Amino acid sequence: MNLEKHRKDFPILNLKKNKIIYFDNAASSLKPKQVIKAINNYYNDYPANVHRGIHRLSMQASIVYEKAHEDIASFFNCKKEEVIFTQNSTDAINLIMYSLYNSNYFKKGDEIITSIEEHHANFVPWQFLAKKLKLKLKFIKLTKDQKLDVLDLKKIITSKTKLVAIAHISNTLGVINLISEIIKIAHSKKSLVLVDGSQSAPHLKIDFERLDCDFFVATAHKMLGPTGIGCVIGKEKLLNKFEPFRFGGDMISNVTLKESKWNSLPYKFEAGTPNISGVFGFLEAVNYLKKVGVNNIYKHDKEILKYAYEKLKEIKNIIIYNCKDIDNQIGIIIFNLKGIEAIELSALLDEISGVATRAGMHCAQPIIETFDRKGVVRASFYFYNTKKEVDVFVKTLKKIDLMVNK
Ligand SMILES: Cc1ncc(COP(=O)(O)O)c(C=O)c1O
Repeated sequence: MNLEKHRKDFPILNLKKNKIIYFDNAASSLKPKQVIKAINNYYNDYPANVHRGIHRLSMQASIVYEKAHEDIASFFNCKKEEVIFTQNSTDAINLIMYSLYNSNYFKKGDEIITSIEEHHANFVPWQFLAKKLKLKLKFIKLTKDQKLDVLDLKKIITSKTKLVAIAHISNTLGVINLISEIIKIAHSKKSLVLVDGSQSAPHLKIDFERLDCDFFVATAHKMLGPTGIGCVIGKEKLLNKFEPFRFGGDMISNVTLKESKWNSLPYKFEAGTPNISGVFGFLEAVNYLKKVGVNNIYKHDKEILKYAYEKLKEIKNIIIYNCKDIDNQIGIIIFNLKGIEAIELSALLDEISGVATRAGMHCAQPIIETFDRKGVVRASFYFYNTKKEVDVFVKTLKKIDLMVNK
């Protein structure tokens, strides 16, 4: 991987003044110029609606839109019909939740299994549904090394379990869960499985067919793409079986005053004018990831993670909450410094050295509160980060440590 060459593609990494060290990648990745250009191309060259006109501009836009469906499907190794564009992962999970609800999939007393480490996006919808339909919500325990405990899942799953909704990788712990085993256990009880791949899609090769989960969600802004676009990948037979979530234009094949018929996949789930420029940006982001190679990304992140972890451990008053099994996680470190609150620490890192981190509950309050009720700081790395940047980060933390713990 040619790190210097890739860094040149990211405008924000090439500022002459007020340089930024971007360690907030688990929130949103940076965007390469190729992605920005693809978005501009849509507005400059064929800013028309898709699937609606037979004029040139609409046809051109529709061709790129269809190519995005195909190439993004190929990136995740699934069928074109199985990729549904959404606004983001949150929207994707809500789409599945409402689709299952509209299809009367759950009945009173059924169970949904999730976990304490979920992002609110993969927890609040299920909590809401469980209350509404009187379902039982169960939580898989974590092992000592902070993985979802497969043995515990075997204990708590029953014939009433209708859905297991879990993160492939937690956005706070960074741990890669034993997702294949979890899927096999869930399927042995005939439960559906939704995998929240928001943190795994930017870092790991995802093979939807091999993974064999029922639904997989991803969000483009964590994978070099724009905000406002993501996808849910669902098994074709399930997407055909379940009712849509949103109703209106493009998701129908025939409408009469008496009844409407749904469009074929994936359009059945894509009602209304889609985020066309976002889709173009997502397509280019996936092309860029393919060019760099997801395996190279994972290797580089691991090197940066291990380097940062070893250096951070040297800081006297640091508390690191994750990295229990560093060989099986992505580049995320959550920590605090004694004597200073997470929010203040994150602000100081930015103020002193331009290091961007995130602080607080990380949209995962239940797990973060087990560490610190006032939140933690998260540094998260991606393939354009360097060891030199880590050095600045660690040096700044040491300086802050001296300031607050004299
Ligand atoms: C694991 C996980 N799930 C879901 C989300 C929600 O993503 P979005 O805000 O793009 O919907 C995030 C974002 O941080 C995440 O990390």
